[in-house]
Amino acid sequence: PSIRPLVAGNWKMNGLSADLEELKAMATGFEEACGGAVDGLICTPATLIERAARTVEGQGLSVGGEDCHAKESGAHTGDVSAEMIADCGASHIIVGHSERRTDHGESSQTVAEKAKAVWRGGLVAIICVGETEAQRKAGETLEVLDEQIAGSVPGNATADNMVVAYEPVWAIGTGLTPTVDDVAEAHAHIRARLVERLGEHGEAVRILYGGSVKPSNAAELMAVDNVNGALIGGASLKAQDFLGIAATY
Ligand code: G3H
Repeated sequence: PSIRPLVAGNWKMNGLSADLEELKAMATGFEEACGGAVDGLICTPATLIERAARTVEGQGLSVGGEDCHAKESGAHTGDVSAEMIADCGASHIIVGHSERRTDHGESSQTVAEKAKAVWRGGLVAIICVGETEAQRKAGETLEVLDEQIAGSVPGNATADNMVVAYEPVWAIGTGLTPTVDDVAEAHAHIRARLVERLGEHGEAVRILYGGSVKPSNAAELMAVDNVNGALIGGASLKAQDFLGIAATY
């Protein structure tokens, strides 16, 4: 099937009220930059989601969260539920980003629970997978992807409620990217596993590439088979960079 790409930003722990100006520039410029060919999303810290959603309203961009708790409510000081993020006007939530897996010890099982929470809240889950540098050097990349997909992707995922992001951990924030052949291999592998697991939904699920995507390398990376868009960290903080990436479509 032909899959409409998604260009998604992840602001991580960046963003104050003043940065909503930058978001506004992204929102107003997005459709023109990509010629209406792709969907656009910016995931912000929980503190900004509601204002971000108001900022992009009626423009070509939507807003998402970066993580959520698996439960709907309760005694979980400092945590935020998918329902709360939905209530702020978000459409998507990232789950299982490598920074969550590493900094907060999140297992694939936790990630799967969070994905289900995202659906309970009525939103789309962006589930992240990817190998570390040591795993790549040891030739374990495809096995790691198998384990992460088996553990993190719930069996009732569909092409409408889930996006998968392939992010090699060693490529995040480093300026390093895999070769086009390595990206093609990883994405084809992920596609095959998703088809095994989800049937025709697996054929249509978007698989994003993430890790040091910038305007100068986006065209090459986005042209790879089974790459249906990008998950962008650093280059999603400035309108010029984010729109530069969108413009490669
Ligand atoms: O979620 C985004 C990724 O971690 C990529 O970050 O574009 O700064 O390498 P980066």
